[in-house]
Amino acid sequence: MGADLIIENAAEIVTCAPRAGEARPGVLTGASLVIEQGRITHLGPAERVAAELAAKGRTPASFPRLDAAGKAVLPGFIDAHTHLVFAGDRVDEFSRRLAGEGYLEILRHGGGILSTVRATRRASREELLRLGRKRLDAMLAHGVTTVEAKSGYGLDRDTEIRQLEVACELGCLHPVEVVPTFLGAHAVPEEYRGRPSAYIDFLIAAVLPEVAARGLARFCDVFCETGVFSPAEARRLLRAAADLGLGLKIHADEMSPLGGAELAAELGAVSADHLLHVSPAGIAALARAGVVAVLLPMTAFSLREPYAPARAILEAGGTVALATDFNPGSCYSESIPLLSALGAVALGLSAEEIVAALTIHAAAALGIAGTVGSLEVGKQGDLVVLDAPSYRHLPYRLGVNLVETVVKRGEIVCDKRNPGGTAC
Ligand code: NIG
Ligand code: FE
Repeated sequence: MGADLIIENAAEIVTCAPRAGEARPGVLTGASLVIEQGRITHLGPAERVAAELAAKGRTPASFPRLDAAGKAVLPGFIDAHTHLVFAGDRVDEFSRRLAGEGYLEILRHGGGILSTVRATRRASREELLRLGRKRLDAMLAHGVTTVEAKSGYGLDRDTEIRQLEVACELGCLHPVEVVPTFLGAHAVPEEYRGRPSAYIDFLIAAVLPEVAARGLARFCDVFCETGVFSPAEARRLLRAAADLGLGLKIHADEMSPLGGAELAAELGAVSADHLLHVSPAGIAALARAGVVAVLLPMTAFSLREPYAPARAILEAGGTVALATDFNPGSCYSESIPLLSALGAVALGLSAEEIVAALTIHAAAALGIAGTVGSLEVGKQGDLVVLDAPSYRHLPYRLGVNLVETVVKRGEIVCDKRNPGGTAC
């Protein structure tokens, strides 16, 4: 699986390869990049790459060629936190929130996540597939080559499993790779109203084992929040998930400082996400335990909440990834450009930190930094070409999608250069 390709003449190739003590994301000029059967096999000065190919009896001209003159080439973006599979929308709720109603207040009254649960339970597998496909197309057009997809709009056995099956199938049907996460503990369903602990028991007994046995999810996540699931309930579920071999994630300290970050550190979660209200102790714990902080500034923007303390997390030695949180309630957007702009303007991240947060650190948040997230020999040939000469244009061009071409495993899967190309 995978194609061959050579990329030549790029104004810069931004490798995002992790380099100790270096703030710059690894910028190569005058370089070529070769992909064979979907994997990067050569990367470096154009003459050196040509010599390496000659030693194998090949020439640059023998490869399909992408001329990136005047453009920046980056690793494909990785959106490490999305709620991809759902039906319906919540446009009315958006108006209500703008008029002053609170997000958790709406949920308490049976709306919010629970209204998407009703719509998703009613939707057929085919409908969920159709919707998911369309969303992946839009994500791909923003340069996303890998996306995490959470369940959590079923809150019953059948619909949770259906959401995960759809996520897995989408990953097979579509060039964008899908990493599924079980988020059965996204809210307390109507059937268990007032009995969150009993619902956790149900998930542990009746859903989690099947999810794990069938390999339907790589991670288990939980919405640890006042009025949703307490840290004790989250701990119980996540321990059961870890025992079954799933990696762990937490929606942590989003609306209140409940200690979700500390819990993520205690359990060795791969990431703690949101963190708008993370405590200083939580920040220190994340850094100590090597838990990736997945920050979702578009959600803070949409909910008109304060932003996560990105600089404090970095200063404490933590790792920051950025993700969209694409979902129908708190953030109905797949916009990497808006995310990058908020990363800079609202979180105070540099262009270098933003690029790393969308690539190698996002890969770390999904436990796949060994195969994707940077441009290095041996890694998957997933990359984007920007219609701009430098990665520094990414946050600078506020809200503008600069992605011109997207390559997945060496294949051009989105090409906006000519109308006859692979449109997306
Ligand atoms: O990450 N906070 C909980 N879950 C989502 C929102 C889901 C929804 O509102 O439908 C989030 O913000
Ligand atoms: Fe989320």
